[in-house]
Amino acid sequence: MLKKEVLDSINDQINAEFYSAYLYLSMSAYFQGKGLAGFANWMMIQFQEEQSHAMKFFNYVYERGGKVTLGPIEEVPTDFDSILAVWEKTLAHEQMVTGRINKMMDIAIEASDHATKSFLQWFVDEQVEEEASVTEILDTLRLIDGQGNGIFMLDREMKQRKFVDTTNAAD
Ligand code: FEO
Repeated sequence: MLKKEVLDSINDQINAEFYSAYLYLSMSAYFQGKGLAGFANWMMIQFQEEQSHAMKFFNYVYERGGKVTLGPIEEVPTDFDSILAVWEKTLAHEQMVTGRINKMMDIAIEASDHATKSFLQWFVDEQVEEEASVTEILDTLRLIDGQGNGIFMLDREMKQRKFVDTTNAAD
């Protein structure tokens, strides 16, 4: 049985993951509107990944005999200043998510909930990957410095990204 503070932190995070999904869907729409199909694809995959993160938490709550409580999803931005601004916002958002996951880990440690600690470790590792992949894109964009050719090449590369469902993955 999950302690209340642990369950509350997971329910909050389910909401935060759906917010992330919604945010990235909005970014996908922004790129679609700019004719950048590859960037839009990357964000669409990210939208799917965030939903799978939410479902991973959702399934875990039931596995531990808890109750999922779904709250309203906060409104997301629908317009952005530039291509670069979207990626800067993405990195800042993922850094914020990392902070949330670390806080959840602190709560699980405080509650001596070893099963939740073990479960959360997947997300700790996932956040390292999330931040690294967005940082790489940001570095490339800064190098490209708005040049059409570079944007075109990067967009084409991003078209290759495929969704891998990790909802039930242990590692
Ligand atoms: Fe669910 Fe992008 O972390």
